[in-house]
Amino acid sequence: MHSLRIVFLLAGVFQFRQTQAALQRIVAVGDYHGDYPQVAKVLRMAGIIDSTGAVLKAMQPTVFVQTGDVVDRGPDTIALFELMQRLYNGSTMFHSYQESSASGLIGMFPLLGNHEIMNLQGDLRYVTAEDYASFGGREARRAAWSSQGWLGELLFTTFNNVTAIVNGSVFVHGGITSEWAQLGVDGLNNHVHNALKEPRWRDSVFGSNGPFWYRGYALENEDVVCKPLKKALKLLKAKRMIIGHTPQLESKEILSRCNGQVFVIDVGISSAYGANCAALEIVGDIVTALYCVPGKPDEARRVDLTPKLEGLNRSLDDNEL
Ligand SMILES: *[C@@H]1O[C@H](CO)[C@@H](O)[C@H](O)[C@H]1NC(C)=O
Ligand SMILES: *[C@@H]1O[C@H](CO)[C@@H](O)[C@H](O)[C@H]1NC(C)=O
Ligand SMILES: *[C@@H]1O[C@H](CO)[C@@H](O)[C@H](O)[C@H]1NC(C)=O
Ligand SMILES: *[C@@H]1O[C@H](CO)[C@@H](O)[C@H](O)[C@H]1NC(C)=O
Repeated sequence: MHSLRIVFLLAGVFQFRQTQAALQRIVAVGDYHGDYPQVAKVLRMAGIIDSTGAVLKAMQPTVFVQTGDVVDRGPDTIALFELMQRLYNGSTMFHSYQESSASGLIGMFPLLGNHEIMNLQGDLRYVTAEDYASFGGREARRAAWSSQGWLGELLFTTFNNVTAIVNGSVFVHGGITSEWAQLGVDGLNNHVHNALKEPRWRDSVFGSNGPFWYRGYALENEDVVCKPLKKALKLLKAKRMIIGHTPQLESKEILSRCNGQVFVIDVGISSAYGANCAALEIVGDIVTALYCVPGKPDEARRVDLTPKLEGLNRSLDDNEL
């Protein structure tokens, strides 16, 4: 697989933007885990924000997706959710993706991860002392995360989706099994919204095979999971699923499985996981991993992850389902 990958070392994302100016791109970043400086580094490398943290205005039309787990293991919960709001507010045209000829950040999808759910549930096992301090102590943190607090309210009512679909790519923290896929993207989001309303923490959507915790697509044998994945994608009317949740700490690289039908984008960005650096970019059907280049914060090392021979046997496989 490695030998098949073509590595492009372009003179950075700026050159890329010029040559592909008319196309829309999707950028997705996985688990932040409480490390603002690392996240700022990744988003700058991926051409989303500038060196001051401001959302770039002149970029090629871009939809940004964060696949959950902003919180825990690091101290920067507040700064990171402020950044998320800034990106959301800065996506001037649409908060949900539409066909558009506009430039700049045209869509922003903040998704919940299992660690957001844990904090809303009051499961604070992975909260650091520095994070408590940043809120002004345990009680102040608890208040901020309650349904009346600024952060709890944001997550219960606005940043409360579990999944998003953008032009055939479906994004989710853990993974959508073929069972959950039957609800469809909107149905799954609605199911989570209803469960959050009471809240109904015992709902199986928050369980180990639910979309927040499921790890099968990242860990199980391809012989076992590729077929159910394909079924899930068909139900979701998607070509590929992009997931976080299972950090790729050995390779430090985005993992492509089932011939490009699933991409695992959690490389362990946070210092708690080794301060690795990656984002996924999708333009049309071209899928590219973006990695930091030491000493060149505005550049990306680009690795083509577009599946080869895609679709050759599609009609055959579709009939199998
Ligand atoms: C984003 O917009 C909301 C709603 O207008 C506002 O409450 C919030 O303060 C804004 N946040 C940032 C960081 O711009
Ligand atoms: C949540 O998902 C629904 C579609 O299921 C979409 O209409 C809505 O804009 C999304 N909200 C956010 C904040 O992305
Ligand atoms: C959506 O993806 C298709 C390829 O599957 C591509 O031809 C099209 O340009 C994409 N649309 C946008 C708006 O990027
Ligand atoms: C397509 O299907 C045929 C017959 O099952 C098989 O021999 C061939 O290897 C498949 N090609 C690809 C690219 O999967």
